[in-house]
Amino acid sequence: MTMVSETILVTGGSGVLGAAVVRRLLDTGRPVRVLSRRPQRAANTPEKAEWAVGDLATGAGLAEALDGVGVVVNCASDTKGAGKTDETATRHLVEAAQAAGSPHVVHVSIVGIDLVPVGYYKAKLAAERLLQTSGLPYTVLRATQFHDLVLAGVQQLARLPVVPVPSGALVQSVEVGEVADRLAELALGEPVGRAPDLGGPKVWSGADLVRAVLRASGRRRSVLPLPLPGKAMKALRAGGLLVREGGSVGRRGFDDFLAAAPLGDRTYGAAQAGDRAALKGMLTGQVSERG
Ligand SMILES: NC(=O)c1ccc[n+]([C@@H]2O[C@H](COP(=O)([O-])OP(=O)(O)OC[C@H]3O[C@@H](n4cnc5c(N)ncnc54)[C@H](OP(=O)(O)O)[C@@H]3O)[C@@H](O)[C@H]2O)c1
Repeated sequence: MTMVSETILVTGGSGVLGAAVVRRLLDTGRPVRVLSRRPQRAANTPEKAEWAVGDLATGAGLAEALDGVGVVVNCASDTKGAGKTDETATRHLVEAAQAAGSPHVVHVSIVGIDLVPVGYYKAKLAAERLLQTSGLPYTVLRATQFHDLVLAGVQQLARLPVVPVPSGALVQSVEVGEVADRLAELALGEPVGRAPDLGGPKVWSGADLVRAVLRASGRRRSVLPLPLPGKAMKALRAGGLLVREGGSVGRRGFDDFLAAAPLGDRTYGAAQAGDRAALKGMLTGQVSERG
């Protein structure tokens, strides 16, 4: 259990998930520090949180950011570059944490990274392994895709007059706030190693997701399920992105999310370009099967 006075460092605290984690931790009254490469505080970071400038990819600023820290919640990831710097970044974080008295590191990962062969997932797997062999007290939470990311991906595809969808692909997206709730809870508890995976309450086919978005946004498009080749597509059809036995599911489904979301032409944010490219690649069959 963390001491109430110990600072919790949230790397990636300016990102979509990280910002939600920061809000939850501040609500518990804990001192929270955000690590970011940006010299200026992000608009989504409350004044109550401390702002630390640093770069996980180079290691700059990490020693200072970790000073007096009892727990790190690692929500940082090179999402723009499909994870290109994630392994190096995790190595730097591990080394800096070891030098700073070995705080509990809570790390967010993705369900199915060991089953679906895409470059980003290989980088996430390498990051998990570094943490597991670091000797640090750690907790890894794997979550499925956030509803927001799925919506952004579908919105991109729905610009086409006929919307292509890989036939048979299965998705179990989750509400980002529920992932943040779980991470905050894990950050306040003892290290557990691999925590139970977290996904949404319902498994969707890609085609049904697209139809749901079209219905919710009042657009009429034909949906074209395509039988796409490749190992990654095969893994998606086999349920590689779904929560397996022993995992847990959230309450808020994609349809609840759609009912509440403003459905203009949404993008997940520039920071998600890497994931969007991966999702679009999946849907057009251009998934990287290399590492
Ligand atoms: N999106 C999903 O559907 C999903 C599903 C499951 C798990 N996840 C995982 O959840 C985590 C957060 O995802 P997200 O969608 O919230 O990401 P995001 O919005 O793209 O945010 C990424 C964050 O990483 C930080 N960052 C990137 N490179 C950095 C570096 N070299 N040094 C320091 N900070 C760096 C960025 O901070 P600055 O730009 O301020 O430096 C930013 O706050 C990732 O690990 C992702 O793999 C995401």
